[in-house]
Formats: sequence, structure tokens, C-alpha cells
Amino acid sequence: MSKSGPIVIAHRGASGYLPEHSLESKAMAHAMGADFLEQDVVLTSDGVPIVLHDIHLDSTTNVARLFPGRAREDGRYYALDFNLQEIKALSLHERSFTNDSGEEQAFYPRRFPLDQGSFRLPTLKEEISLIHGLNLSREKKAGLYVELKSPLWHQQQGYDIATAVLGALAETGYATKVDQVFLQCFNDQTLIALREVTPLPLIQLIGENDWGEEGEIDYEAMQTAAGLARIANYAQGIGPWIPQVLTHRDSGLEPTPLTALAHEHGLQVHPYTLRIDELPEGAENAAELHQALFEKAGVDGLFTDFPDITRRYLQAR
Ligand code: G3P
Ligand code: CA
Repeated sequence: MSKSGPIVIAHRGASGYLPEHSLESKAMAHAMGADFLEQDVVLTSDGVPIVLHDIHLDSTTNVARLFPGRAREDGRYYALDFNLQEIKALSLHERSFTNDSGEEQAFYPRRFPLDQGSFRLPTLKEEISLIHGLNLSREKKAGLYVELKSPLWHQQQGYDIATAVLGALAETGYATKVDQVFLQCFNDQTLIALREVTPLPLIQLIGENDWGEEGEIDYEAMQTAAGLARIANYAQGIGPWIPQVLTHRDSGLEPTPLTALAHEHGLQVHPYTLRIDELPEGAENAAELHQALFEKAGVDGLFTDFPDITRRYLQAR
């Protein structure tokens, strides 16, 4: 990685200002000076990698209105049950949920309004093309930070998401751009298999054991010296949840041992996610959180919904 200093990773784009994973949010993040733009990737029924955080479509699109009757028994609409043409007919909107009164409500009420604008779901290749174009027109080198979502679930449904993502990277000329692409995943087995077939840097995402991420993945073990030594065999870094790198004490936010331990094993540390409208316990504001992450813990990058605020913090250092 040739960047000097910590990297700003635009989490789902500039998602604090525009609907997550819209191309508009990626263009805005690029303009805000993000070093990397994040893509969460799932597949369509015809095997096309699209940029979408959930394996479901219902939290960020009008799928229920456009395709009533296409939900599975659990009431959810799965991207994998729709072909690309159908996916392209959907409108994308700010993340929402149905409240107890049966009304649709924004997940982050102070963000882009639910009923405004006109957005579409991008394919991974469309998004890469946008970023590549912006890099040329703006003389920048913003990179991709691609997450393979739920590879085990895709496999159980008969799909190979890793091969599909690597195919899209190869077709767009990004398969070997080791300084411009990170691949990230919660599933360690997927990363171990990827290590054999790609030179791109890999990031092991770390969740909590009770989050119900697919498979029997022991994230607590990953945070020990032995766990980090094992990760260092296949990955270049870890992506922990912020409370795994900072803890709230009377003295304020203090680092846990995780970042220093990961550095001892040669691993970069890119925690997720800075949200000014959802600060962790003990953080009064974004500046305090940035200070604790970059100065006290010494992390190497940060997933942020507000890339402008993170960039400004780092510039002012
Ligand atoms: O990929 C880093 C972070 O985005 C992981 O959480 O659920 O936002 O994809 P999630
Ligand atoms: Ca992600």
C-alpha cells in the first residue's frame, strides 16, 4: 500500500449524505477525497455481482411495491431471486424499516429523505467504471474496497460469489492492482481460498460471535495473539468493529490491545464504522472518536459514512 498515513474508506460511499451504494454517493465520496470507496457485493439470479449491502432488497428499494408476491416464505425479497433486468427496474432509497404503526421510517432520520431523488442499484462493473472515470478526470487514484457478502449462503444457493467478483475485477482491469483494491470478508474460509487465486490484499472482517454471521466463525479467537498469527498467514489486515479497538473508561475512550497486537503480526487495522449520528458509547463527537482511533489506538484506516469529516480530521493533524 503506497498511501502515506491512515486511509479514508468511504463506507457504502458518502452514505451519510446520499443513499448507501448509489453511484451518486460514490461520486460524492470521490470528490470528498476518500482514498477507497467501499462496495458490498451480492449476486443476482443471473449471477451478476451488484453493489448492495444486504442479501435482501427490501430495506433499500421499492421491490415490495414493484414485485408483490416475489418474497420468500420469510417475507423477505432476495436479490438472488431477481435477474439483472428486474434489479435495474428498482428504485434505490435511503435505508428504512417498517415501524410498529406499519409506516416506513428512515433508519437514520437526519440523512437523505426517503421520498426524494431517483437512484438505481449499480452493478460492480458499473461502479468500477465510474470510479475509474473519476480517477482519470480528477487525476486521482481512489481505490476499491470490495466486500464479498455471505459467500456461504451464496454457495448454499448454488452460486460462487468469489469467482463472480474476481471475474468482474479481471474484466475491468483491476484483478492485479494491488495498491488500488482491497478484498474484505467476514468468512475466513473464503479469504483463505482467495489467497490461492489473487495477489490482492485481503482484509479479515471481525464481528461478534452472537451476530449470527454465516457459519461457525469464532471472532473472539481471531482477536487473540494466536488468532492474529493465523490471519497473518492469509490476510494483510483486519476490519474490526470500533468497540473491539476502543473501550469506554472514566478517562474517556481508550484503546483495547487489539490494534497493537495486530500490528505486531504485521496486520493493518481498518475499523468500521464512523457515523456522526450513531457515535459509540463514550464519544461525544466525531473529533473525539477520530482522535481516539487515530492517535490513541493508531489504526491504519477507517470506514466512515462521512468521508469529508474524516478527511478534514486527518488533514488538520
Ligand atoms: O465492511 C466493513 C463494514 O462495512 C462491515 O460491516 O455490515 O457495514 O458491511 P457492514
Ligand atoms: Ca461492508
